[in-house]
Amino acid sequence: MSTESYHIPAMLKETIEGLAIKPNGVYVDVTFGGGGHSRAILERMKEEGRRTERIKTEGEGKRTDGKRKEEEGHLYSFDQDKDALQNAIEDDRWTFVLSNFRYLKNWMDYYGVTQIDGLLADLGVSFHHFDCPERGFSFRHPAPLDMRMNQTAKRTAADIVNSYSEEELAQLFWLYGELKNGRGIAKNICRARAEKPIERTEELVAASRIPAEMSKELARLFQALRIEVNDELGALREMLVAARDLLRPGGRIAILTYHSLEDRLVKNFLRSGNLEGTIEKDFYGNNLSPFTLIEKGRTAEEEEVARNPRSRSAKLRIAEKR
Ligand SMILES: C[S@@+](CC[C@H](N)C(=O)[O-])C[C@H]1O[C@@H](n2cnc3c(N)ncnc32)[C@H](O)[C@@H]1O
Repeated sequence: MSTESYHIPAMLKETIEGLAIKPNGVYVDVTFGGGGHSRAILERMKEEGRRTERIKTEGEGKRTDGKRKEEEGHLYSFDQDKDALQNAIEDDRWTFVLSNFRYLKNWMDYYGVTQIDGLLADLGVSFHHFDCPERGFSFRHPAPLDMRMNQTAKRTAADIVNSYSEEELAQLFWLYGELKNGRGIAKNICRARAEKPIERTEELVAASRIPAEMSKELARLFQALRIEVNDELGALREMLVAARDLLRPGGRIAILTYHSLEDRLVKNFLRSGNLEGTIEKDFYGNNLSPFTLIEKGRTAEEEEVARNPRSRSAKLRIAEKR
C-alpha cells in the first residue's frame, strides 16, 4: 500500500513552514500515520542543513579538510497503531515509537531528550482507519464494532455500547457527537441491546434508528464512540502539557484538529498555556502565556479541498514557546 492511500496529509506545506525547522533540531511527530508529515520534516531538515552548510562554506572560503560537520537533528514519530509501521522511513535520524502520545514525556526521558525544537500533532484517525472495513470505524461498512486505534487495547466500541447506562450514552452522543437527539438515540440503542447485544456496525446503525440518508448524524454517532473508545481528549490533554514543558524557547507546536471539541481545547491551551484556559496577566496587563500564537485556526485552501475533500474540516494552530 502506498503512503498516499494510507493517508493524504492536510495543509502539509503550511504545517512544515510553520514549524520553522532547523537542520539540527529535535522534532516530534506524535501522529505518524502514513508518514507524510514526518517525511516532509526530515526532508526540510536536510534542505535547511544544506543551506546552512552552503552559507558557512561561502563565508569561510573553500574548506580544506574535506570533512562535512554533521550536527544532525532527529525526529521521533509516535503512533499507537502498529499498522503505521508499514510506512516506516529508512533514515538514521528517525525513530518510531509505537505508543500513545499521552506518554510523550516518559518516552523523551527514555531517549534522554530534555528539550525539543518542535512538535506536530495531526489529530484523529487516518484514511486507512476508515478504509479498513474490519476496523469498524465507518458506518458505511458492515464490520465488528471495534474502533480501537491501538489494536491491543482492551475496550472496543461494542463494549461501550453494551455496558454504558442510557444516561451515559446520551451524554456521550451529546458531548462528543454534538447530536441534538442524543437522548432519543441512546434510548433506541438500549431497547435494541435488551433483545440482543450490539456487536457490529450495521447493528448499531439499525439500533440507533438514524435513517441511512442522515449520513452526517451517523458519522457523528460513530465519531462520539471513537473519541470515547480511544480516550482522545484525555490523551490530547496529557500530550499538550508534556509538549509545553518539553519545548525550548523559540520551539514551535503545530496542531491540526478536525472537530470543534478538540479544536476548542487546543485553542484555549495555546492561548493560555494551561488546560483550564485561564489567561494570567501581570501587573501591567500583559498576557503571561508561555506561547506566542503564529497560526490561529487556518483552514485549507479551496484548491486543496477540491483535491483532498477530507482536508475540509482541518484547522491548523501553531504557537511558539516564549
Ligand atoms: C490524521 S492521522 C496522521 C496522518 C499523518 N500526519 C500523515 O501525514 O500521514 C492520525 C494518526 O495518529 C494516530 N493517533 C491518533 N491518536 C493517537 C494517540 N493518542 N497516540 C498515538 N497515535 C495516535 C492514529 O493512529 C493515526 O495513524
